[in-house]
Amino acid sequence: MCVTCGAQTHRAARTGNTSEETVTITEPPAGRSWRAHSPPSADAGAYLDIERGVIDRRIWKDEGLYQQELRRVFAPSWLFLAHESQLPKPGDFFTTYMGEDPVVVVRGKDRTVRAFLNTCRHRGMRLCRADAGTTRNFTCSYHGWGYDLSGNLVNVPNAEAYPDHFDTADWGLREVARVQNHRGLVFGTWNPEAPDLIEALGDMAWYMDAFLDRDPEGTEVVDGVTKWVLEGNWKLAAEQFASDWYHVNMAHASALMVMSPTGKGPKTEIANTPGRQFTSPLGHGAGFPVHPRSRFDDAAVHEHYDYDQLRERLGSARVEGPMTTGHATVFPNFSYLPVNGTIRVWHPKGPDRMEVWTWVLVDKNMPEEVKQAQRRYNLRTFGPSGIFEQDDGENWSEIQAVSRGFVSNRTPLNYQMGLGIHDDHDPDYPGRVGELYSDNAARGFYARWRDLMNTPAWHENHTTPEGDRD
Ligand code: FES
Ligand SMILES: [Fe+2]
Repeated sequence: MCVTCGAQTHRAARTGNTSEETVTITEPPAGRSWRAHSPPSADAGAYLDIERGVIDRRIWKDEGLYQQELRRVFAPSWLFLAHESQLPKPGDFFTTYMGEDPVVVVRGKDRTVRAFLNTCRHRGMRLCRADAGTTRNFTCSYHGWGYDLSGNLVNVPNAEAYPDHFDTADWGLREVARVQNHRGLVFGTWNPEAPDLIEALGDMAWYMDAFLDRDPEGTEVVDGVTKWVLEGNWKLAAEQFASDWYHVNMAHASALMVMSPTGKGPKTEIANTPGRQFTSPLGHGAGFPVHPRSRFDDAAVHEHYDYDQLRERLGSARVEGPMTTGHATVFPNFSYLPVNGTIRVWHPKGPDRMEVWTWVLVDKNMPEEVKQAQRRYNLRTFGPSGIFEQDDGENWSEIQAVSRGFVSNRTPLNYQMGLGIHDDHDPDYPGRVGELYSDNAARGFYARWRDLMNTPAWHENHTTPEGDRD
């Protein structure tokens, strides 16, 4: 008997075989639901009062909420997987995570990019253990089961030892339900019922294109992926990149001083920077100063661009705003900074830890020395030891450390900047747009998080844990 749902036997999935000797457990018995296996869900609204701008910091440390996030925020959402330039030819692969699920992203023989749960169907070993590479197939290092680039099980050592009803067609890799590409950024979702990526991005795509569509040839990743671990909940970083220009002047004061020609820092100008903040009902957010002479910070990158041409291509509103200085998060955990060329994922690793993965994105048409200049500029500022990155990581880790306290967790936090100020439209920018200094996009991020946390995901409405496959 199953100790979890009380079933007498579990029959094989996808074979239709109901005889007692089959022992796979991918389908519950008639009349039972896999929902019995899901723990009860908490009301995420109990931790947030978006309308009053008050947040309970337990959302960053509670293990139950974290597990609920994995099944209701990460499992149903579109998540960034890779840049297409990482997979130029058939057989190229890249391993990453969707939530805490490992996945391998691979370009097939038909040139289609697919993604699979990176675990062998035999005993659950991690199938592909390399970060990236090129292969003809994936062979498990435990007992040698082999899978082709389309996820089919194509080699089973000692296959004659298996019973007649063993069919390799039943034991292919679990495929990510939908994989789509927006201007080179490849996203995937486990949710077969998800809207198309472009619909899930909504107005955010217009802001992203200020970064991704500066050149007709598009973008590519320069060099590899930089990864590091931070002691902090993933939402601390995602929320900040969606919404928080407010911290720049204080948290990065030393860095700004170092970078200023006078050595005293452009503090006053930064504090009074006029700018706009975009808030999406889908949880995305972006903020950027607005200035007719917005320019790339790195001299080589700045000199590479013809700003008049960029205005023709993208329009003045984008060139003067979201194309250069600014920040953005695509809900839930993909962020970027155009001026630094950094794109990044805040991978959740438990409620109190994240793994930061960053890439440097450049225009394909840039001369090699300009690409390298952008890469070095990013490393100096937002690499793991970058002068800005360290300030942010320090703040997030300290917030996380404080969140361990009993009294701390009964002391709510303020997200009221901009609340009730009705500046939510700007004819130059799509979507809901207001002042740069505001918590609007943070409130939007958490409102989306709350709504997903309180909505049963597609897999909770099916009778099998695989939902879309059975
Ligand atoms: S776990 Fe992969 S072949 Fe056994
Ligand atoms: Fe920062």
